[in-house]
Amino acid sequence: MFKGKKIALYVTGGIAVYKVVDLMRELIKNGAEVRVAMTPSACEFVSPLTFQVLSRHFIYLNTFEENDPEVVNHINIADWSDLALVAPASANTIAKLSAGLADNFVTSALLATTAPVFIVPAMNANMYKNTVTQENIEKLKNRGHYVMTPDKGFLAEGYEGEGRFPEKTRILDELKLAMRDQDMRLPLKGKTIIITAGGTKERIDPVRFISNDSSGKMGHALAEAAWRQGATVKLITTSQLETPGYIERLAVESAAEMYNEVHTLFKEADALVMAAAVSDYSPKNVEKKKMKKQNELTLELKKNPDILMEMGRIKAPQQCLIGFAAETDNIIEYAKEKLTAKHADLIVANDVGKTDRGFNVDSNEVTLVSHTDEPKVISLQEKSKIAREIINWLIEYYN
Ligand code: CTP
Repeated sequence: MFKGKKIALYVTGGIAVYKVVDLMRELIKNGAEVRVAMTPSACEFVSPLTFQVLSRHFIYLNTFEENDPEVVNHINIADWSDLALVAPASANTIAKLSAGLADNFVTSALLATTAPVFIVPAMNANMYKNTVTQENIEKLKNRGHYVMTPDKGFLAEGYEGEGRFPEKTRILDELKLAMRDQDMRLPLKGKTIIITAGGTKERIDPVRFISNDSSGKMGHALAEAAWRQGATVKLITTSQLETPGYIERLAVESAAEMYNEVHTLFKEADALVMAAAVSDYSPKNVEKKKMKKQNELTLELKKNPDILMEMGRIKAPQQCLIGFAAETDNIIEYAKEKLTAKHADLIVANDVGKTDRGFNVDSNEVTLVSHTDEPKVISLQEKSKIAREIINWLIEYYN
């Protein structure tokens, strides 16, 4: 998402400047082009040379140091950037931005830029809580700037409070969210998509369950792919895989819990992608205490609700239903049967009989089976790429 992005990084005074060095490296590693400007206070904490060496570009420090008569540096960086990132943003710089002051290179460039402005405050907890700082932050938000909340925790002052520079992963997640929300052209903007992931667990007793080999990787990759195309994603998952902060995640365990979540959210959704491997059966009686060994044990199972089929029954014509079919033989034929039986718009059929694809691995080969087109094979590749192809099918469907 940062590939090719031109980011102007405005560094202001605070002990967190040393953490911004690492943030800048991460942005560059992810393909962003970064130019740095620093206030005099920022230079007290980390030498501009550190940023220069790592960004491989000179650092803007002084408004009046113009080496090239053809260029006015603070206007140039303001116009060049796709995004203005202020990190750390001190209480002082926040106050200046809110008042519209332009008394150093950083504040002058920020007053001149038309790029979206993303602010990462970091300061003493009392400075942050001070009404005047809060009023300044409100003003900046009302002007359309994105202002993060700092982390709570141990501050440089030696006590706990809210004001810490946020963890790098949180900054990157919120940056992606802010950047995505700026882009009005994304094809799934305004669409809400429910995605289910992982194998359900059907409890036998407090420590045992029936489940399957699904890892949730395909569903989680689909959630990321749909989000990137602008959708609001609700991921209902049994998996322990991590999700970025911008994806709404609902943790479930059993088929019954998954059914309830899907059923609650379905009315407001534009699409449902059932990537989860839902157990078809669950124990009729769940033992409250751990079962003791016996010579023989017969488990009585009852049929679980078929979530896809139930949603197929109640779906409105404009709602799109995508199901998966795990097959080892007659892949297309079985997928077509499921497409009709479950009133789905697309079945993603995957061959689970081979070890290099399908369950619990990073790659997959699938065939897209719909009512309108010839079956389309998406050849063996990473699940993230397969996910993009499936989401592209959904985009075409809406077109
Ligand atoms: N599904 C569901 N609820 C269930 C079982 C399955 O919503 N109780 C969904 C799955 O999430 C998947 C599709 O239905 O999208 C799979 O259909 P299913 O009939 O279970 O196919 P297979 O798992 O391939 O099993 P089988 O062919 O044995 O029926």
